[in-house]
Amino acid sequence: MTTPKKLFIKTYGCQMNVYDSERMAEALGGQGYEQTATPDDADMILLNTCHIREKAAEKVYSELGRLKTYKAANPDVKIGVAGCVAQAEGAEIMRRQPAVDLVVGPQSYHRLPEMEALTRTGATALDTDFPEEDKFERLKARPKAARGPTAFLTVQEGCDKFCAFCVVPYTRGAEVSRPAARILDEARDLVERGVREITLLGQNVNAYHGAGPDGSDYTLAKLIWDLDRVDGLERIRFTTSHPNDMTDELIEAHGTCAKLMPYLHLPVQSGSDKILKRMNRSHTAESYLRVIERIRAARPDIVMSGDFIVGFPEETEEDFQATLDLVETVKYGYAYSFKYSTRPGTPAAERAQVDVAQADDRLQRLQTLIVAQQQAIQQGMVGRTVSVLFEKPGRDPGQMVGKSEYLHAVHVTDSRVTAGDIAKVRITGSGRNSLSGELA
Ligand code: SAH
Ligand code: SF4
Ligand code: F3S
Repeated sequence: MTTPKKLFIKTYGCQMNVYDSERMAEALGGQGYEQTATPDDADMILLNTCHIREKAAEKVYSELGRLKTYKAANPDVKIGVAGCVAQAEGAEIMRRQPAVDLVVGPQSYHRLPEMEALTRTGATALDTDFPEEDKFERLKARPKAARGPTAFLTVQEGCDKFCAFCVVPYTRGAEVSRPAARILDEARDLVERGVREITLLGQNVNAYHGAGPDGSDYTLAKLIWDLDRVDGLERIRFTTSHPNDMTDELIEAHGTCAKLMPYLHLPVQSGSDKILKRMNRSHTAESYLRVIERIRAARPDIVMSGDFIVGFPEETEEDFQATLDLVETVKYGYAYSFKYSTRPGTPAAERAQVDVAQADDRLQRLQTLIVAQQQAIQQGMVGRTVSVLFEKPGRDPGQMVGKSEYLHAVHVTDSRVTAGDIAKVRITGSGRNSLSGELA
């Protein structure tokens, strides 16, 4: 037996990167690697990167600057860059940081084992192609390790929407959906390994249009109904959705599919039609609000979440006020707001930028409103009984943490609960970012 080599992966960015990191770790497991929690004893260090905002991308270079000391101490240590910065910058990464041995874009992960082998010969390896094959088919888990109660499962990748601010269509490529049969196999496998809740992932997950089990075109709603029949799978979620792809059958599923959780992340970015048009969002504030009305008619208790960008080029105070008005109307359970970040190569990068101090001020005002809404919805949970899937021990002795159907973190201190249990909990308190309660 040879001793296993050690792999350290650091993951930035969205949930899809979390899923990809798991797949890459499994693929390199076949090359004799096991994962380690620190770069100190690693034979291979892999950064799975994000390019969505300038700060995210710059973090990668400063981290690489720190990591090169590991290689200086031991030349056998290999350093790799995966993810969206790898796709966007390619060979430039090796020019800026010569300690990097390997650069692999998101659509080439199935080539990682052979690329790793190449670096062992002292060569560098670079692949940022968009090949026509299902990389996940070739990144299958082996051996089948036990899993926690929740898991991500990528069903769709890439984006054809080309919002004027966004790098994703360039870093992840065109929309591609995986065949339903493979997704169902993967879901059954996850359930056998202990998973009870699956979050289906896609950059535009509700635009899913993979081949159905009989070869016909499938939809996300149909896929959800197939997953509903998987024994042992108790909860289904999906993210991220585009307002224009919320079909009637998907909205209906929110009212009728018991395993589909009452939480929906539906980014809108702005409440101003002028800005939405300049963002190339192809929907209006009004059409977004109408979609939410239909969703709430199907599932009145659904908790909504969204994404916002402030300070998009040419955003005036009046435009920003329209965003605040939209937020007031929707009442979000969660919302993520960002200051616009200029991304090279995107259409909006060419336009007149909003003053930074003004954008900072707007971000603060929006976040104050969002926090107030979040707190109000959390407070409204006090006294109610929710269903909690427990995931792991909390910070206090004897405490367990899980998620309610509405995705609120819930703390319970009770020796009867273990990870993987689903239990009814009466909510007794609401803190900053979580709820607490007792078994009902
Ligand atoms: N596919 C998803 C997520 C895209 S990235 C979607 O369409 O909603 C996640 C969020 O990052 C976006 O919703 C947007 O709010 C934000 N974002 C994307 N590009 C950005 C940029 N250039 N500057 C600031 N925020 C950005
Ligand atoms: Fe980016 Fe827009 Fe596609 Fe979302 S829909 S990934 S924001 S281009
Ligand atoms: Fe970032 Fe790429 Fe995800 S840019 S948000 S890691 S798709």
